[in-house]
Amino acid sequence: MKSKFSVLINLLVLQYLAVLCVSQDFDFFYLVQQWPGSYCDSDKSSCCYPTTGKPAADFGIHGLWPNYNDGSYPQNCDPDNPFNESEISDLLTSMKKNWPTLACPSSSGETFWSHEWDKHGTCSESVLDQHSYFETTLSLKQQTSLLQSLKSAGINPDGSFYSLEEIKDAIKQGTGYTPWIECNEDSSGNSQLYQVYLCVDTSGSNLIECPVFPKGGKCGSQIEFPTF
Ligand SMILES: *[C@@H]1O[C@H](CO)[C@@H](O)[C@H](O)[C@H]1NC(C)=O
Repeated sequence: MKSKFSVLINLLVLQYLAVLCVSQDFDFFYLVQQWPGSYCDSDKSSCCYPTTGKPAADFGIHGLWPNYNDGSYPQNCDPDNPFNESEISDLLTSMKKNWPTLACPSSSGETFWSHEWDKHGTCSESVLDQHSYFETTLSLKQQTSLLQSLKSAGINPDGSFYSLEEIKDAIKQGTGYTPWIECNEDSSGNSQLYQVYLCVDTSGSNLIECPVFPKGGKCGSQIEFPTF
């Protein structure tokens, strides 16, 4: 009796674990890039240049976030695999340039990268280990070259205003995929271009059309692209 019963229990436990494992998986990534000018003029008191100096006037990476098709997302998936900067020592020069922190107090970036890995990166570690996660994200940034796409369409970070459609069309023209645009407000209440979301397949290699767009982040009818 005991053995039949424990076999049944084992099966139930295994089935439960299998469901847990599947639910740890994810459907696609959001690649999120931010315009530093809009980060910094929205609330000057919460923008601090990194210890390595003012970043270039270019989009910076915010993160690569595993997401589900229903719009929800996993987070903090593996506390046993915390961020370890020595695993990405060969990427640090590029990280400082392309994934700069603007949070206060000033830092060289580890706090930001560590947050991104612990919260988001650990949820795709079945596909990308720490080194691949950061390397892949850096290469996706190069691949999308947002600023170039916008400039090619005459959309420049000089404080001018553009329509949401103009901005989306320029990025679609440049990358081949429809972005989702998040706006914030400058200190005078103008809607401005803050973050650009593009979607990436679970391998981290290919852009895809987004299965679902985030909520919120409403943009006004005219969107400022501030200087930095
Ligand atoms: C961090 O990574 C390095 C290089 O892979 C490794 O030697 C070291 O043991 C790791 N540190 C921790 C705390 O896991």
